[in-house]
Amino acid sequence: IPVDPFDLVVFGGTGDLARRKILPALYRRFCAGQIPDEANIIGAARSEFDDAGYRAFVRDTILEFAPVTLCEDGAIDTFCDRVRYIKLDARGDEGWEALARIIHADRVRAFYFSVGPQLFADLAERLHRHGMASGETRIVVEKPFGHDLASARELNTMLARHFDETQIYRIDHYLGKETVQNLMAIRFANMLFEPLWNSQYVDHIQITVAESMGVAGREEFYDRAGAMRDMMQNHMMQLLCLIAMEPPAKFEPDAVRDEKLKVIRALDTVVLDDIVRGQYEAGEDKPGYLDDVGNSESTTESFVALKTGIGNWRWAGTPFYLRTGKRLRARTSEIAVVFKDAPHSIFGADAGRHANILTIVLQPNEGIELGVTIKEPGPGGMRLIDVPLDMSFAETLGPGAELVPDAYERLIMDVIRGNQTLFMRGDEVEAAWRWTDPIIAQWEEKGERPLPYESGSTGPEDALALMHRDGRRWREIRE
Ligand code: BG6
Repeated sequence: IPVDPFDLVVFGGTGDLARRKILPALYRRFCAGQIPDEANIIGAARSEFDDAGYRAFVRDTILEFAPVTLCEDGAIDTFCDRVRYIKLDARGDEGWEALARIIHADRVRAFYFSVGPQLFADLAERLHRHGMASGETRIVVEKPFGHDLASARELNTMLARHFDETQIYRIDHYLGKETVQNLMAIRFANMLFEPLWNSQYVDHIQITVAESMGVAGREEFYDRAGAMRDMMQNHMMQLLCLIAMEPPAKFEPDAVRDEKLKVIRALDTVVLDDIVRGQYEAGEDKPGYLDDVGNSESTTESFVALKTGIGNWRWAGTPFYLRTGKRLRARTSEIAVVFKDAPHSIFGADAGRHANILTIVLQPNEGIELGVTIKEPGPGGMRLIDVPLDMSFAETLGPGAELVPDAYERLIMDVIRGNQTLFMRGDEVEAAWRWTDPIIAQWEEKGERPLPYESGSTGPEDALALMHRDGRRWREIRE
């Protein structure tokens, strides 16, 4: 769907996020014909660039980070011609008047705060002072949205001074992933699953977001955050919400976010016995966590697994197991809904136990898999086996399916269109911290070090035990 010409300003336009995600995303949308000719894309930062210099920078960035498959020859030059640069000081006066001059009062104006949260207040205040905060202005803020409940509240209060909640787009890029949205389609556009989607039929749900890379490159931030703050409070929490929430009446921003908020508020407090923290050790020719962050005393976790529950009618009694970590065996993210065994086996005890498992794979190969039990073909009597009804999007939907827009492409276009459904509301972020803070406080009080785990493994042994003691097991982290 075409959009009207807009102005998009990327504060931190020379930074890592701009290079890796925002500029490539804009370029891909440009190639898809979604960026109108008159749109203004403006990089703003402290570096000494003029328009030509920034265009060269953007060009290099795109060559490095954006696959060119969708684009016509020469597209990159046409795109770069659209881009401009303003040298700007977030904490001073430089650049602000120049920016105000080229921003159109009668357009959608999106300001992407691709900078650390310590600059949010300065940017917000100056946008306001220079008359750019009202009208069709939207601001986009990235995680980390705070370090705990108190700091998140402070950020919310500060942004609310100059912007209405409908103008604030808090990004959790997991919500922009194709399969994450598909989760809602699967649940709410099919009759098949929803009647079974409760503690009567679901034994447990497990969510894994495993990464193979370490923390190199963002040591300082990560060592202050750890897996709980970096992944669990936001991405994992969002996945949990979408899998567990009640059907919203409409696929509309507040209808969806109201339901997610209810899930977060109903989450059980997690006790230390139900948490395993880990830290990767050297392996596979790569340094361990302590060397990566250059802090031999660090007690920050690069892995966390926990068990929680949701205290409501639908889910009381169904455990939710969540784990995420770095330097694990493979980059795999999936949600598995494990259904209960059939109440009675007419095939006798020898037939074994069989449970249907619905797996929603986010990474690396997006798709859905439903494990069903069938008779093993052949004359050998009633032997049962579990087979997957497998739907890999790339295979089933044919060529092009792998070119689904990346999360940032979708989210940036949603900002331009004014659709907040896939963005976090302020109260949601606060509720997530309200759940996270006491968990962190417990282990800080106890002062235990995270358990070491081997690089390339599936995390500390104790994480396996977390499920084994309940008679369950994690699904494999597959290559
Ligand atoms: C980011 C985290 O939000 O998400 C990173 O800060 C993490 O630590 C990344 O690596 C994972 O995103 P994706 O899309 O690669 O799964």
